Amino acid sequence: MATVLAIETSCDETAVAIVKNRQVCSSVVASQILIHQRYGGVVPEVASRQHLETINPAIAQALSEAKLGWKEIDAIAATCAPGLVGALLVGTTAAKTLAMVHNKPFLGVHHLEGHIYATYLSEPTLELPFLSLLVSGGHTSLIHVKKCGEYETLGQTRDDAAGEAFDKVARLLQLGYPGGPIIDKLAQEGNTKAFALPEGKISLPNGGFHPYDASFSGLKTAVLRLVQKLEVKSNTLPVADIAASFQDTVARALTKRAIACALDYGLETIAVGGGVAANSALRIHLQTAASSHNLRVLFPPLKFCTDNAAMIGCAAAEHFHQGHTSPLNLSVHSRLTLNRVMELYQH
Ligand code: KG4
Ligand code: ZN
Repeated sequence: MATVLAIETSCDETAVAIVKNRQVCSSVVASQILIHQRYGGVVPEVASRQHLETINPAIAQALSEAKLGWKEIDAIAATCAPGLVGALLVGTTAAKTLAMVHNKPFLGVHHLEGHIYATYLSEPTLELPFLSLLVSGGHTSLIHVKKCGEYETLGQTRDDAAGEAFDKVARLLQLGYPGGPIIDKLAQEGNTKAFALPEGKISLPNGGFHPYDASFSGLKTAVLRLVQKLEVKSNTLPVADIAASFQDTVARALTKRAIACALDYGLETIAVGGGVAANSALRIHLQTAASSHNLRVLFPPLKFCTDNAAMIGCAAAEHFHQGHTSPLNLSVHSRLTLNRVMELYQH
């Protein structure tokens, strides 16, 4: 397996990592959260400017922490889709320039492939096929990972992504940004049964419900209504109980769909990825349900659930191993579905 230097700048983390044989040699993540926090979300132009300032020191730090020089790097990779265009351009331009200067192959990487393969960082021997439960701030999908570059989406959210729901509920509870980790922490002190909240379901024409698709916007509205009702009655909100009830509803909805999908498609392993994979309730619900159905559920190490470059290095190494590289005139894409991922490579 190759040694890959990977860059991730699709949103608000400037990240650089060096990955060798599904092992992390170094991983630098310079978070911009404190800068964006006061706006309640990521401001694209501020993000690009910040990436520009941080990218070169982050590359130098990744090389020095790994104690490696350019001679030992086999390929250079960067996230090129999906994400904020200005932010993506900073990372890909840095990677292409370094590839040119040091005469190394360049690979553009789809951000979601990074989240899918992040599980290799805890389970280097994991083999395909498996079912990926991808739960991040922008996506919530069940993906049949057939082989490197070949994916079938079997289920998805019809509205808000799971992470987005955490962020929106945290905002309406005035807890801050990003909401997931704050709600997760607060929920530890709350009662999951305090409030009955609706698990969003997608109706089918035959009167049933879609087994794998999810919906979180109704749940978010239900929390809003609950908060309005409680605020009228008293001026102290039971925030921990609301957080625990909300989190438990999301975890149960995701678990039910992932288990049904894995069983129906005969996939024995569920690999979870994306920021919400760090959620403690989701980890417990999935693990309990998987073991009672003889399924295996795997998670990336906690620090590689949220955006990082080690996962991008993992995905790039898989493609490089298959002989895939990208042209130096590769564009960035704000949106690109996973089934078009092979358009990023010449092979
Ligand atoms: O994967 P990620 O870092 O960025 C995207 O690609 O979107 O995911 C960020 C999302 C945010 O919505 C954040 O609130 C959520 O992941 N998140 C969590 C937790 N940690 C991060 N959600 C629930 N529980 C957590 N512990
Ligand atoms: Zn992400």
